[in-house]
Amino acid sequence: MQTRTLQLDLGKKSYPIYMGQNLLTQAQFLTNHIAGKQVMIITNTTVAPLYLNKVKALLSLLKVAEVILPDGEQYKTLETVNLIFDALLENRFDRSCTLIALGGGVIGDMTGFAAASYQRGVNFIQIPTTLLSQVDSSVGGKTGVNHALGKNMIGAFYQPKCVIIDVDTLDTLDDRQYSAGMAEVIKYGLLGNKAFLTFLQANIESLIARDKDLIIQAVYQSCVDKANIVAQDELETGKRALLNFGHTFGHAIENTLGYGVFLHGEAISVGMLMAAELSKLIGNLTDQEVFAVKDLLEKSNLPVSVNGKINALEFFDAMRVDKKAIDGNIRLILMKKLGESYISSSYQKEQLKQIINDFC
Ligand code: NAD
Ligand code: GLY
Repeated sequence: MQTRTLQLDLGKKSYPIYMGQNLLTQAQFLTNHIAGKQVMIITNTTVAPLYLNKVKALLSLLKVAEVILPDGEQYKTLETVNLIFDALLENRFDRSCTLIALGGGVIGDMTGFAAASYQRGVNFIQIPTTLLSQVDSSVGGKTGVNHALGKNMIGAFYQPKCVIIDVDTLDTLDDRQYSAGMAEVIKYGLLGNKAFLTFLQANIESLIARDKDLIIQAVYQSCVDKANIVAQDELETGKRALLNFGHTFGHAIENTLGYGVFLHGEAISVGMLMAAELSKLIGNLTDQEVFAVKDLLEKSNLPVSVNGKINALEFFDAMRVDKKAIDGNIRLILMKKLGESYISSSYQKEQLKQIINDFC
């Protein structure tokens, strides 16, 4: 398959997103974007045995160091990022160095944040290896860590020099993680691309059965949609908030239950259905349309409720710790119709509470 290249257009900060198969055997995608001679690969204990040597083999002429972090959302913290700083300083890396994030969204978010902060900013490259990170987190420059009081609350906007998406890395990803990534793919259809939503509805069984050609189409379209939105609103002063469709509900689930009970994409799945139900309650969607959303999520083996694991009061409280909240007012991404979303703070609090009660 031909490698596809997509440009994220951000003026001087523009960068290519390379996508295809077998990219981790081709050095040029990586080496063309490394400026200095010092490279640090940041990965974790799960991904390192699978892909670290492959990536190192592409960098034989450079000084390459590595940091292998513990695996898990619970380690997406300032303490873990500090391990990256320790390694950079111990290896005397200077401002010309390049950090490479090799892994899923957790590694990508932490590496990007370390790159934004180390010596006030060094180069970094994303090599995402989960479906979720390939279609969402590696693109667009949101970086950061969790705080005990809220998910992704500490961070920076900081763009990579390039993103290298080798869809073959998905071959080693387990089914649960793959489905969690599919939630973010579905998000693009629901929030603003009716044609893509129709494609997903028609092909979801084959996508879940991992048809490679369909995966490539879905990853590519997701990156196109994300890149378009980020190019219009890098710092999320407006339209970019649409990419958080389902996330205010989803983050509340993750924050309340603790990390690991629901994977990020699983929490977003429930969150998207809650947003669809609220959209129905305010008169924007029909029963059949909400059913169509639920059906697509269920066919992706994603959860569609919290199964009594959270009580409604806790849920509502957790929703208030959200970056989209302004002066304590929870702004939500709701649907005008299938394939079109908008930012709303004009729904009734009672309607939101009803939805939360129904799902809890
Ligand atoms: P993750 O990084 O925890 O990866 C999931 C699991 O898959 C981990 O155990 C990981 O080690 C393993 N893994 C990674 N690649 C693998 C491979 N190829 N084969 C086998 N196992 C592999 O989770 P994720 O779903 O990739 O990312 C979730 C994170 O991304 C969350 O922290 C979320 O907040 C963040 N996120 C960020 C953005 C953004 O714009 N920056 C967007 C969406 C999500
Ligand atoms: N995942 C949301 C964003 O990148 O804005």
